[in-house]
Amino acid sequence: MQKFEWSDQLSVGVPMIDTQHKELINAFNDLSEAIEQGTGASAIKKLLTFLKYFTEWHFEQEESCAAKHRCAVAETNHHAHTRFLNIFSALQIEYRESGASEEIARKAHTQLADWLVSHIMTIDTQIGACVRHARATSQS
Ligand SMILES: [Fe+2]
Repeated sequence: MQKFEWSDQLSVGVPMIDTQHKELINAFNDLSEAIEQGTGASAIKKLLTFLKYFTEWHFEQEESCAAKHRCAVAETNHHAHTRFLNIFSALQIEYRESGASEEIARKAHTQLADWLVSHIMTIDTQIGACVRHARATSQS
């Protein structure tokens, strides 16, 4: 499975958001590593538990930051997060019904990690630009 390297392309330029995104990327890289070693089935439970708490908290932080600075893309970002949570719920249901497997580990990686990386690069970078702009203008 694909591993993600942290790069300038992924950075939104706001330290709080970048730190949280790095945590998410690391969690997916851990899953990817486990899948390669054939231990995806035991890693999936850990990932789902982590994501359940971390994504909700992270999305809230990011959305309140975007709202505070009245970012134009705030609404789009909120809807995108809702879509992620829907994909995530479907995976949790599948996990509860059919249990841990290499297959569900792979599916979680494909559906969630790809979503995350493209979301960061297309939407969160716009949030980052907006927040940096707002901060720079309020300080001047
Ligand atoms: Fe976002």
